[in-house]
Amino acid sequence: MKFISLFAIATSLAAVSAKNILLTNDDGWAATNIRAFYRDLKAAGHNVVMVAPAVQMSGNGGKFQLAASNTLETDAEFGYPPAGSPSWGHEEDDLNVWYYNGTPAACVGVALDYILPTYFNNMTVDVVLGGPNEGTNLGERDFVLSGTIGAAYYATERGYSAIAFSGANSNNSFFKDTLDDDPNHSANIYSKKSVELLDALFEKQGNNERLFPLSTGLNVNYPKAGSDVGSDCLDPVFYHSRQTGPNYFVYSAKVNEETNLVEYISSYDNVLDVCAAGDCSLPAEFEIIKNCASSITVFSLDPDSKKKVTDDVIAKFDSILS
Ligand SMILES: *[C@@H]1O[C@H](CO)[C@@H](O)[C@H](O)[C@H]1NC(C)=O
Ligand SMILES: *[C@@H]1O[C@H](CO)[C@@H](O)[C@H](O)[C@H]1NC(C)=O
Ligand SMILES: *[C@@H]1O[C@H](CO)[C@@H](O)[C@H](O)[C@H]1NC(C)=O
Repeated sequence: MKFISLFAIATSLAAVSAKNILLTNDDGWAATNIRAFYRDLKAAGHNVVMVAPAVQMSGNGGKFQLAASNTLETDAEFGYPPAGSPSWGHEEDDLNVWYYNGTPAACVGVALDYILPTYFNNMTVDVVLGGPNEGTNLGERDFVLSGTIGAAYYATERGYSAIAFSGANSNNSFFKDTLDDDPNHSANIYSKKSVELLDALFEKQGNNERLFPLSTGLNVNYPKAGSDVGSDCLDPVFYHSRQTGPNYFVYSAKVNEETNLVEYISSYDNVLDVCAAGDCSLPAEFEIIKNCASSITVFSLDPDSKKKVTDDVIAKFDSILS
């Protein structure tokens, strides 16, 4: 197994120049994780525009759902903003932080086709980032389910380099309740590690126009980390992973005889253990995050050519793997 050594990352930070970043998620623009990431990306010197859903949009995959009305018919997540507000808008004191009442993929579309051309002088985008999601997004199962990954996948379809980040702190929290500067809090740990990974990638990008080859992106998952989630893991290392692997559960259905409702349960058929392409010796995402470690998986829009395409992406960060 390979991990990105902290030393290699630390020594690379100085060389990184400011990038233009489009940021979204699926838990909503008022979620703590994304606000911590926005703050830290800016602090690292990047130009960041955030356009994220008004409400919780988990589980929507790549669905491209636009707002059906000019105003919010119900409160946004945490009542921020309340029903009756416009269907898109920005923080009063920060023109770079927007919500849009659509799915994550739709937020990326509205950002690329409306908000950036209209309010940011047609800003070019170096990378589109999703998350960090509140909750992990592991394996083939979540790849087609997660709105955070759906946003990254959609951005990749639009020709952008994109990364989905997810973390095992699944509390849906309002940034005004929980965002702080405690370095031991999960949102701050995920944010810090994400900035470190990005800056290492940017450094390796050098003067290349693209961060990743066309049609490829990354899926990154963080373990439980931080005092707020009862973990003494405070600085998880990175491992290169594959998406499939043993012990992923799929959803299955079971009737509850008492309530007469169908409930979902987990089933372990290990179909997801089949490795038909790529490097089958890599550890699975699911296994990596059981420890104080994070997984980095390369994805491609063209699964048929996975091995060759992913090798090209891995070459982008191979030198910082040890
Ligand atoms: C924005 O940039 C794109 C790509 O360079 C170009 O096709 C488009 O015409 C530009 N739009 C505006 C409003 O300048
Ligand atoms: C979970 O989220 C709620 C809503 O923002 C917040 O009040 C609460 O403090 C959070 N709990 C933890 C453990 O962060
Ligand atoms: C974070 O956790 C470490 C290890 O438990 C501890 O030494 C440090 O004081 C903590 N930092 C803060 C700001 O609480």
